[in-house]
Parts: sequence; C-alpha cells; structure tokens
Amino acid sequence: MKALPTKIAIFASGSGSNAEVLAKWAKLHADSVNLCGVLTDNPQAGVIARMNRIGVEVTIVTRKNRLQHEADILSVLSDWNPDWILLAGFMRILSPNFLQRFHDPVRGYYKIINIHPSALPDFPGLDACRRCFDAQSSHGGVTVHLVDEGVDTGRILAQETYPRIDGESFESFFSRGQALEHRMYLQVLKKLVHNQGVLT
Ligand code: GRF
Repeated sequence: MKALPTKIAIFASGSGSNAEVLAKWAKLHADSVNLCGVLTDNPQAGVIARMNRIGVEVTIVTRKNRLQHEADILSVLSDWNPDWILLAGFMRILSPNFLQRFHDPVRGYYKIINIHPSALPDFPGLDACRRCFDAQSSHGGVTVHLVDEGVDTGRILAQETYPRIDGESFESFFSRGQALEHRMYLQVLKKLVHNQGVLT
C-alpha cells in the first residue's frame, strides 16, 4: 500500500529563504509531502513575495497578544491539519500550551522543527550569527533541532560548522551560513518524509 504524504506547515517571519527551499522541494514531491500551507505573523515579510513567485499562498496571522495569536494560528492549523510544523525564521516563542497540541505521546516529542544559525548550545536566541561573528569565533554553525519549551534547547537533528575565513565580512560569513542552512534543512525534511513523518 502506498504511504500517505507527510503533511507539513511552514512558519516564517522574515525573508523566507529557508521556507522557499523547503516549499520548492515539497511542490516537486507532492506524492510524498503535502505542503498544507505557509504562515507568517508579519505582513511585510519577504517570504510572502517569495512564495507568490512559486505559486504558494501565504496566510498572514498578525499578532495581538500571544494567547490570541496562538488561538488564531491554531484555528488555521485545524483546517490544514499538518503532521509537522517547520519553523523557518519564525520570530515567536511558542507557548507550552501550543506545543502540547503537537505532542507525539508515543515518541515523546513535539512535532515542530526549528533551524538556528549557530552550533547550539553556542549562541542561542536572537542574532546568533551576528553574535558568533562579533565574538571572533573560529567557526560559524547551523543547527536543526526539535522545539521544546526552552529557547533553542530541543533535541538536535542535524548540526554542522563552517570555518571563518580570515578577514571576511559579516555578509560573507552570514551568506555561507545561509547556504548551509538551506542544504541542512532540506536534508532533514527529506529524512522526515523518507521515514513517513517519524523521527527516530
Ligand atoms: C535563519 O538564519 C534561521 O536560522 C533563523 O532565522 C533565519 C531565517 O532566514 N531561525 P530566512 O528567512 O529563511 O532567510
């Protein structure tokens, strides 16, 4: 019997370069992955134009307060019914109550994945790539991880570092990190889909 596609939703607040890579791949592999929708909390986000260019609609859910915002997001998700949420630069911390809605009691994790621009546990939180660069680190990093109640503390699914090049600008350091992000997030999505939505 043919496996059902893994259903994913992507959340993004910014430029959406990761979201674009994931969405393009999902569109090309619609037999095994179903992109239920892309959601943003930011009506100005670059992700909206990126998705429009590839024919994917973006649902905008603006923030009032956290409780109301999450209730609004959950109402969208009750139509989409995704198996997994992939956070791609989504600038909101999700509450324990929200996470609970995506709890897998068998596996013991929340079915929510995030990508972070450092080799965690180094530089959790905002502006990680900038802080890593400013700290004169010998390397940058990227981590794809499960989301838990903490800030960038969930189980690591993939992690790589890249060396800082002597004298390079922040822009160069950052863009090399982004290229790595795109490759790694796609690898994790492929693995998830290959395992029919189960992470071991
Ligand atoms: C990435 O650096 C990601 O690691 C972080 O937010 C950024 C999103 O970039 N969580 P983009 O919007 O996908 O270009």
